[in-house]
Amino acid sequence: VKPEAEPLRPDHAPEAVRWITRTLESAGHETWAVGGAVRDRLAGLPAGDWDLTTAARPGEMRRIFRRTVPIGIEHGTVGVLAPDGRLYEVTTFRRDVETFGRKARVVFADRLEDDLARRDFTINAIAWHPLRGELKDPHGGVEDMARGRLRTVGDPDDRFAEDRLRVLRALRFAGRFGLEIDAETWAAIRRAPGTLAPVSAERVREELFKVMADPSPARSLKLYAASGVLADLYPELEAVRASRNAWEQTLDTVDAISPRRPVLRIAALFLCATPEAATRAAAARDLLRRLRCSNAEVDLATHLLALVGELPGGDASDAEIRRWLSRLGRDHVSDALRFRAGIARAQVENPTSVAAFARRVRRLAASDAPLTVGELAIGGEDLRAMGIRPGPEYGRILRDLLDEVLEDPSLNREEVLRERVMEMLGGRR
Ligand code: CTP
Repeated sequence: VKPEAEPLRPDHAPEAVRWITRTLESAGHETWAVGGAVRDRLAGLPAGDWDLTTAARPGEMRRIFRRTVPIGIEHGTVGVLAPDGRLYEVTTFRRDVETFGRKARVVFADRLEDDLARRDFTINAIAWHPLRGELKDPHGGVEDMARGRLRTVGDPDDRFAEDRLRVLRALRFAGRFGLEIDAETWAAIRRAPGTLAPVSAERVREELFKVMADPSPARSLKLYAASGVLADLYPELEAVRASRNAWEQTLDTVDAISPRRPVLRIAALFLCATPEAATRAAAARDLLRRLRCSNAEVDLATHLLALVGELPGGDASDAEIRRWLSRLGRDHVSDALRFRAGIARAQVENPTSVAAFARRVRRLAASDAPLTVGELAIGGEDLRAMGIRPGPEYGRILRDLLDEVLEDPSLNREEVLRERVMEMLGGRR
């Protein structure tokens, strides 16, 4: 990382950021860009959301700008709708933020320096003036980024006590930017396991998802493991980490899956967790539920873990693949193939044959051949019309029919299936 190689220029920020700064400063309120966008640009990465910090109080901002949204007035944050149609967060200079779980007590400040001093890491405490291009970096964040060092602003124990989530942020930033964690900061992180309980499940989840959205989560995950945070927050992964081979294979697989599919990457953490697919799926379900993930996310991860190992090999018949698809469900096909491709990439399987097989699975999934009972040419109504009394028998009959149709989709015609039902009942009587 060489910040000198590409210093921040005013045109690195969107025009809207300059417009907000100009507007506030002509009303007499000093304004700076801070936080993640400044940090990411200095690291030579594309910037995410641009956040601004200003001497103006929230009430003043709401008078100065025509269109604002009260995003977090109690924290001093106002959303300003800029001419580019996007919302920018502008926050009044603050100091002394005490966080209890999610609630923070905020005191406004008049000076930028006070605001920078209460931030978590030196690389996050750099201000940049969007019009003059000037940097304010009282804690040496630019040099830390250049030298590849992560340090808290001031005493690490104090910083982490203010907000325990910062421990996880440290592991993420160090992994993302390939930074070495400074000795004192690391010592404080090593004391953190056991103290993270006050951080809400939602914030822990957001952090994990952010790690998983990085190009290579492996580095941060290794730091989670080395610090003891992994064992503390995710004890179900302890067995994986304890075996070096399993852990390395797991991290390779996570990295091989797309950053745009964080849930798949989380599921991949469990691939080597236990010998049986069902217990792996159950462990992943428990973790995702504990993190209050959505039902769709829990369902996806457990489904993939339960079924991806049973995906038949390249020499499987169409019928075998259809049977597998029937258990998986069409909705999960793309993700299952992505998941499978990630595993294959980590195990250095032949990419051409993996891709060819995936195409075949996709084609079978997209065909008209029924994969569920609901897609059969006859249903409960027909069974009733045939004089069969409603009951659990219906489900059994339809599943038996589906079995046969999965084997041979040409059987999926009303008269053929009716005949099969008669034969089945005859055979059973
Ligand atoms: N911040 C902090 N302590 C926290 C969270 C945030 O001091 N627990 C400060 C940091 O200066 C940070 C800024 O607020 O850069 C913005 O925080 P946020 O938007 O949560 O994260 P970013 O640092 O922008 O990074 P990312 O978007 O990758 O999470």
